[in-house]
Amino acid sequence: MSNLTKPSSIALEGVEFAYGPRLPVVLDLSGFAMAAGESCFLYGPSGCGKTTLLGLIAGVLTARRGEVRVLGQDLGAMSGAKRDAWRGANLGYIFQMFNLIPYLNVRDNILLPCRLHASRKADELGKIAAALGIEELLERGVLELSVGQQQRVAAARALIGGPRLVIADEPTSALDTAHREKFLELLLTQCKASGAALLFVSHDQGLAPLFQRQQSLPELNRATKLEIV
Ligand SMILES: Nc1ncnc2c1ncn2[C@@H]1O[C@H](COP(=O)(O)OP(=O)(O)OP(=O)(O)O)[C@@H](O)[C@H]1O
Ligand SMILES: [Mg+2]
Repeated sequence: MSNLTKPSSIALEGVEFAYGPRLPVVLDLSGFAMAAGESCFLYGPSGCGKTTLLGLIAGVLTARRGEVRVLGQDLGAMSGAKRDAWRGANLGYIFQMFNLIPYLNVRDNILLPCRLHASRKADELGKIAAALGIEELLERGVLELSVGQQQRVAAARALIGGPRLVIADEPTSALDTAHREKFLELLLTQCKASGAALLFVSHDQGLAPLFQRQQSLPELNRATKLEIV
């Protein structure tokens, strides 16, 4: 398939972002793209803009210049409310701080995207929970879980209902090496099985070879390039 016809999950062009009119430009990217179903390991030092880039791709943040096209949608052309609905229906997002709902049990945390968006089907709950080794924890409160277990609940919530793009922001930082590799293999296997693209941020270079592609953010980002020696 040529590059012109190959479906893309992410296509950014000429994107510039700052957190405010008087604040420095955090991202200045001539381009960044991912193909449908591709897995990409995104890395770079703390503060280089990784979480900011994920926020732009998820439509939580909006670029002040350029085009952010995700799963065929031009996010800049959508209203905030439309972007929120689109995100919930199409994206699985594993946050740096998990963002689990403390007063819901494991099952209800995982099923949250399905309750909010009819297109996210709940029928694979058992399979996903078993693959992530949390099937015995479904009725437990999330605050009773270890950090590693909470991470796997956050992954299950991102994967439920077959999103076409999964974004993970440092999801393995609290796991030991053995659990880290196992968690990542499960995430990659689940994404492959459902055909979802996976954009994964981590400082842990040991994980990089498990991905089809490795991308340094400072190498793409003209805003930080000059500051990093
Ligand atoms: N809400 C915000 N308001 C203003 N500046 C912010 C905000 N969030 C992040 N920044 C700034 O934007 C830059 C990029 O931050 P970002 O969180 O994207 O980095 P990161 O690469 O994810 O870092 P880490 O590896 O520590 O998570 C930093 O200089 C940070 O101070
Ligand atoms: Mg970050």
